[in-house]
Amino acid sequence: MQTDSSFTFVLFGGTGDLSMRKILPALYEAHRAGGMLAESGRIVAVARHAEDRDGYLQWVNENVKSHVSKNGLDEAAWASFLKRIDYVKLDLGKPEDFALLRDAVSELPGIRVFYLATGPSLFVPICRALASVGLNENARIVLEKPLGYDLKSSNAINDAVGEIFAEEQIYRIDHYLGKEPVQNLLALRFGNALFEPLWRREWVESIQITIAEELGVEARGDFYDNTGALRDMVQNHLLQLLSIVAMEPPHSMDSDSVRDEKLRVLRALKPVDERDIGKVAVRGQYHAGGIRGTPVPAYATEPGVKKDSTTETFVALKVEIENWRWAGVPFFLRTGKRLADRVAEIVVNFRPVPHSALGSPALRPGANRLVIRLQPNETIRLYCLAKQPGEGMNLASVHLDLAFDQFFREGQMEAYQRLLLDVINGRLALFVRRDEQEAAWRWVEPILNEWSSANRPPKPYAAGTWGPAASSAMLAQHGTCWLEEEN
Ligand code: BG6
Repeated sequence: MQTDSSFTFVLFGGTGDLSMRKILPALYEAHRAGGMLAESGRIVAVARHAEDRDGYLQWVNENVKSHVSKNGLDEAAWASFLKRIDYVKLDLGKPEDFALLRDAVSELPGIRVFYLATGPSLFVPICRALASVGLNENARIVLEKPLGYDLKSSNAINDAVGEIFAEEQIYRIDHYLGKEPVQNLLALRFGNALFEPLWRREWVESIQITIAEELGVEARGDFYDNTGALRDMVQNHLLQLLSIVAMEPPHSMDSDSVRDEKLRVLRALKPVDERDIGKVAVRGQYHAGGIRGTPVPAYATEPGVKKDSTTETFVALKVEIENWRWAGVPFFLRTGKRLADRVAEIVVNFRPVPHSALGSPALRPGANRLVIRLQPNETIRLYCLAKQPGEGMNLASVHLDLAFDQFFREGQMEAYQRLLLDVINGRLALFVRRDEQEAAWRWVEPILNEWSSANRPPKPYAAGTWGPAASSAMLAQHGTCWLEEEN
């Protein structure tokens, strides 16, 4: 792919964790691949800590190098990548410093991309300061999550940013949308005649979406303790995955066609009645336990976390979608830190055959099941029944596997790389539109409110397990279980 979309990529929070781990490595990968970034494209890092460009490049060399390229660093590509980088020392607290930035970018080519890899409290001041020096023209702005703390604060940010940038200029990142397998889900659903006729209540019994992590809160205890799993993972990543799984086929893949369909799903989510929350939502918090044999401490003893914290590190939900395609089909969503495995997957359980001349296995729920694994290894597995070899007609569960890394040996792209290229090239489909974000907040708010008002502490679970027992019990009420509990 050859591009001539020139750009000036201005990175606020240029010495932050996200820049170090994700953004600069993704830009380097795009640069190394050749042809993905216009030759003339520039990166202008903005930060306070480095004195000048040399100081910044030293920081990049010391901190970013170790995060690039799993396949080894290409020293020549790295050296030419560094040549793209300029630096502006700027104190975000001083709006007058933005004149320095304006002068630094005024002669640089192409569309201006302002990437705000900062805390959300800085989004509005940065946007206003950019506008004060005329930098909101010919520009795109990228906002990282968390975009607000609830509907009200998210609206306040969106209103203020919206006074300065038009919606088409605003790219709200949800990095799950940039993951290759999520793209593949769209390809699977809308590129094949095979699945779509079955993708509905008549044939689907239940759907599970899991994002499980082995990691704890790492160095982010302070942030996480004020956030919790519902805000950190459900309001965004899980509801975005849900909307892609459940959406109607869009008319085309242009950004608004896709986002309109996702929005319809989010608006059709059955509102949670606060009196029913105990039946449809489970919250948990990890206690001390072990991850793959290594002891790990309890959440409440992690640095930055309050000793008596009631923040949830685990959520399981039963969600319903009130439309013709999905009425009555439970969607079970789950996410958590310090769980037994790192896995993100979508499980579609099909209904059993209506009558079996072949004996009871064919009537068993889950005989036909599609498992779309997003990570760690991207696979799609279709379970079906086949005759066991030999005498008689005995059925056994078998599966058809598609392992993408074996099928497509190269060309895989990290989520951030794809998303940054989309911003530079003006493709909005994989970014969250304001109305989607509002609909997602509106849906989670009753749960947030109930959890904060009622005396309902999270249920404990040992680190290294699959969360509180109540999560399994919720599925058992619907005659089903989480995938790992089968057999
Ligand atoms: C982030 C959350 O959005 O997603 C983190 O803030 C979480 O808490 C991360 O660890 C998970 O992303 P991934 O791509 O590692 O599954």
